[in-house]
Amino acid sequence: MAGVSRRQFLVAAGAGATGLAAGACTGRPKPRPVGPSAAAVAQAEARRHKPGAATHQVDLVAGPATLDLAGTKVTTWAYNQTVPGPAVRLRAGEVLRAELTNRLPESTSIHWHGVALRNDMDGVPGVTQPAIPPGGRFTYQFTAPDPGTFFFHPHTGLQLDRGLYAPLLVDDPAEPGAYDHEAVVVLDDWTDGVGASPEQLQARLQQQGGMMGGGMMGMMGQGGSQTLGGAGGQLDYPAYLLNGRPPSDPPTIRAKPGARLRLRVVNAAAETAFRLALGGHRLTVTHTDGMPVRPVTVDTLVLGMGERYDALVTLGDGAAPLVAVAEGKRGGAFGVVRTGAGATPAADAHPAELDGRLLDLAELRAAPRVSLPARQPDRRHRVVLSGGMMDARWTINGRTADDAVPLTVGQGERVRLLFANQSMMFHPMHLHGHSFQVQGGPGPGPRKDTVIVRPMEQLAVDLAADNPGQWMLHCHNLYHQQAGMMTTLSYVS
Ligand code: C2O
Ligand code: CU
Repeated sequence: MAGVSRRQFLVAAGAGATGLAAGACTGRPKPRPVGPSAAAVAQAEARRHKPGAATHQVDLVAGPATLDLAGTKVTTWAYNQTVPGPAVRLRAGEVLRAELTNRLPESTSIHWHGVALRNDMDGVPGVTQPAIPPGGRFTYQFTAPDPGTFFFHPHTGLQLDRGLYAPLLVDDPAEPGAYDHEAVVVLDDWTDGVGASPEQLQARLQQQGGMMGGGMMGMMGQGGSQTLGGAGGQLDYPAYLLNGRPPSDPPTIRAKPGARLRLRVVNAAAETAFRLALGGHRLTVTHTDGMPVRPVTVDTLVLGMGERYDALVTLGDGAAPLVAVAEGKRGGAFGVVRTGAGATPAADAHPAELDGRLLDLAELRAAPRVSLPARQPDRRHRVVLSGGMMDARWTINGRTADDAVPLTVGQGERVRLLFANQSMMFHPMHLHGHSFQVQGGPGPGPRKDTVIVRPMEQLAVDLAADNPGQWMLHCHNLYHQQAGMMTTLSYVS
């Protein structure tokens, strides 16, 4: 292991488990399921690809950048020198061709979060592709099959807790378009350059180990969150950003009074869930994780890390505070929606909507056109989430990522994952390459790729195993993921 950092070790060991090289790093044999062939991956892509589909070309450079936080200039890492990075936008069925140049001092990759794409473009170094070294380039090319609000970020180390994230918007050619105006809202917890570095935060968590691992800081210091069933997290961030800007320099979304505004909200934070509201307005939730739901109108909603929600708002006249409170923590992100004259709301505005009707996952139903056909599962996997007790490790089925036993599935199966959270913290569980359907309600729940599992909660999700490959399943708390809470959903046929 000489010269191999812990985080490289985690990635390399993951590779051993899924059949792509790097066995030499781990020094011991790994379970090696027979993965799908490159031909199976190519076939799945061929089924998605429409003849004559347009190709959408973008150039992305991951590299050092300067971010101006209300006058405080910080050096960070970003795509194309902006935070968030440039929005990538195409139509469903089109091909994205993204050329990534790595100008970071460490290796990287891009993961296209939420997209049911071909496995070899999924951007997990050591599992779906080789790491892209400093100075290296890689071309991602894949069909984006489903419309929706997605984002992209690296899948290496702590890079996501810097500025390396950007929205990915896939338009629906058949979109009813019942809105006049659209705004993408990307939320983030920020420390780079203004507080401890992500590496220092990680070291702090490792030292705290079991003492604080259960989230006692959040529970005792700040009261935690009823919605999240405990602590909001283990880390207080010095800043929370909305579209790359802190509350003292809020971005303004402008539209006409009476306009129907579509908000596309992305939680790109590493360790923070957000509670979102627009003062004086109600939110009609239309999509979660890109997938349409039967619309539900609420005052406020909570987004875990990696989750996205789209909501429609009919705008009043004036200036309204768009607040995203760090759930169970202190502070939050802030923006302004302005349709007319009027004083800019205060950055510490606490609109009544925040304490109003809260969206409940259990009330969401997939829109019929995306609901999976009713079917009994062919295979079930229990996914036990634990950690935070005796040490700083976070595990799935008692194992950390370097030691994980892949969850096997067969092509064409209906698979049920039963998440069982046996820890005292919430975990936004994310599956690559698929959109599962949340079970347990009176009818078919929403299609999602990231779902909050609360402390001591059990939650079942069903998926159609129709996308061959090796797919990561992990907590989207970046520090939990790095401390082991990741495994692989592995196609064996
Ligand atoms: Cu956005 Cu593996 O995740
Ligand atoms: Cu977690």
